[in-house]
Amino acid sequence: MKTNSQAAKTLLQISNLKTHLFLSRGVVKAVDGVTFDVREGETVGLVGESGSGKSMTGLSILRLLPNIGARVVDGSITIDGVNILDLSEKEMAGEWRGRRISMVSQDPLTSLNPLFTFGDQVGAPPRYHNLTSSRSELRAAVIDGLKRVSIPAVEDRFDAYPHQFSGGQRQRVVSAMALACSPRLMIADEPTSSLDVTIQVQMIDLYRRIQEGTGLGIILITHDLGTAASICKRIAVMYAGRIVEFGDVRTIFNNPRHPYTQALINSIPHLGQKKKRLYALPGQPPSFIDPPTGCRFAPRCTKKMTICETYPPDFISKTGHRTACWLEETKEQGNAA
Ligand SMILES: Nc1ncnc2c1ncn2[C@@H]1O[C@H](COP(=O)(O)OP(=O)(O)OP(=O)(O)O)[C@@H](O)[C@H]1O
Ligand SMILES: [Mg+2]
Repeated sequence: MKTNSQAAKTLLQISNLKTHLFLSRGVVKAVDGVTFDVREGETVGLVGESGSGKSMTGLSILRLLPNIGARVVDGSITIDGVNILDLSEKEMAGEWRGRRISMVSQDPLTSLNPLFTFGDQVGAPPRYHNLTSSRSELRAAVIDGLKRVSIPAVEDRFDAYPHQFSGGQRQRVVSAMALACSPRLMIADEPTSSLDVTIQVQMIDLYRRIQEGTGLGIILITHDLGTAASICKRIAVMYAGRIVEFGDVRTIFNNPRHPYTQALINSIPHLGQKKKRLYALPGQPPSFIDPPTGCRFAPRCTKKMTICETYPPDFISKTGHRTACWLEETKEQGNAA
């Protein structure tokens, strides 16, 4: 396993992904031109306000979009060199979904059936994909998986039902299910939001150990920049269906270029810092049906220029730190002149 991220192989490349929802009230452009990549063994954070399109991006990768007229209308999602948008549903269900790509969903309770035991449910993905040859092998694999996520007294509770566990334990069981088939890529949608800090740290540590041993790539979806900063190597900041900034997490924290990222970082409360009021970004995200023609952040941006309201900025790269902002483009032109 390579430790130098520069040398690590690209595991996932998403290019210009557009996922739209065709509803009776109009076309909701939930994901509208998303580009980022994940390397082997790396955790990339997808951060942004509620409703910015994070979960819809994750569901597009799994090709598990809501059955309300949602579909990918453009772009590519390439994993290990295969554009999964070209695969048949049979190939997707048989080899990819739940096996090479797994997901910890945002609401873990909806991932667990109250009528089935934990043993049955954690065993379901390897059973479906025929990864074990006998019942005893499957049982051993499930127990091992539950131990890895720190479920106490696993052997005695193999036949227990979800209601017999705490919310945090259920969330960890969902992570065990997602890891059960040794996936290449795991999409973790707010996986630690209902865990206390000690268990959060254990889970994060568990993810890290698995990554070191296997090269598992993780997309961590979160609205919490602090969590992203402590777990991720790189982060993609999403606003109104687009990535506005992408790059190394430390570089972005030390030198956020996009005014939206700057506002997000300013709104993190700091312990011991005396402020009369916490900073909150004024205004609301735009309509996804009829978004602004220029930069989608322009209506809330304190640094906007005339061009921002007319033309969308390109997603430009400076040594791997990409930003979609006219301020950066005009700086570039100034440097070139
Ligand atoms: N089932 C749905 N029906 C209609 N619109 C939807 C549906 N799911 C998502 N959307 C639209 O797609 C946009 C993106 O939603 P998504 O769930 O990806 O947001 P998110 O970034 O994950 O937010 P959160 O942090 O609250 O989970 C939303 O603003 C919403 O307008
Ligand atoms: Mg979500």
